[in-house]
Amino acid sequence: MDNPLILGIETSCDETAAAVLRGRAILSNVIASQAEIHREHGGVVPELASRHHLERIDAVIDLALRRAQVPLTDLDGVAVTCGPGLVGSLLVGLQAAKAIAYVRRIPLLGVNHLEGHLRSVFLEHPGVPFPAVSLIASGGHTSLYLSPDEDRVVRLARTRDDASGEAFDKVAKLVGLGYPGGPVVDRLARSGNRKAVPFSPPRMSDGSLDFSFSGFKTAVLRHAKARGLVRRFPVKRVVTVARRDGARSICLSGGVACNSLLRARVAEEAGQEGFECYAVSPALACDNAAMIAEVGRRKLRRGETADLTLNADPALEL
Ligand code: KG4
Ligand code: ZN
Repeated sequence: MDNPLILGIETSCDETAAAVLRGRAILSNVIASQAEIHREHGGVVPELASRHHLERIDAVIDLALRRAQVPLTDLDGVAVTCGPGLVGSLLVGLQAAKAIAYVRRIPLLGVNHLEGHLRSVFLEHPGVPFPAVSLIASGGHTSLYLSPDEDRVVRLARTRDDASGEAFDKVAKLVGLGYPGGPVVDRLARSGNRKAVPFSPPRMSDGSLDFSFSGFKTAVLRHAKARGLVRRFPVKRVVTVARRDGARSICLSGGVACNSLLRARVAEEAGQEGFECYAVSPALACDNAAMIAEVGRRKLRRGETADLTLNADPALEL
């Protein structure tokens, strides 16, 4: 099966998403965002999220198949996010995927959401040279990985507290900019004064590469009264580790990869040090099912299929 038809399903947080891939070609990529629903609460409310996934999942899958012009009967496999994420949300996608796999008698492929983000870059840029260092920065996660080759992944660092996107969202909430905060802060920052507030990125006292973003909130609280705060993403660390581990490329994925300043700075720093830099396009940066289908495609090729006992794992690691 050279170019299998894979349906991907993603419901780990607040996007209900389905996509169809033929081989590596994205035939459709449908994302129904719940941002409007959670906005008035200033963040994702898990119970509301799962209820809305349940209401929309059928229509989203249907639309993905129709846009791809692929009948359900043609599918070669169904890939679904089984973690990490909100358990009630994950279960909705999982049940939908199991139903399709069972009825159509096709392989079920359980996918780690973080592997999806990581591979979203490779899906778009098939020529990424390895070893590659990848930064995944999203609303729920901020981690650094080393891929010695296309198949292996080793985690180098992660956040000790908040994720970078969470920091954007919390800061925006604090100063009343709405939800999700990342895009708003990004837009406003373009016309802001970068030097308005002095800044030094947090460093781990034990010299580890881990990230920490919870200090943002306190710092904003403190500075809000004295007006504003600017904090930069610790980009240097990514380049340092790329040099240390002999990487040839630096990859950027996850919702926060949409951030214009982060993209520009990583590209600049990587370029200066002679690394190739690949940032996922905004269309595949935020949660989507194309990246899930892509991981599923690779699993199918290796025969790593799941059975109907596949369960959601909210704390699944990569
Ligand atoms: O990858 P994603 O859709 O969900 C998770 O897996 O968590 O990422 C969503 C996060 C949110 O926190 C949102 O504020 C942030 O990505 N985000 C941004 C930008 N666009 C989205 N953060 C900074 N700048 C942006 N332009
Ligand atoms: Zn995500």
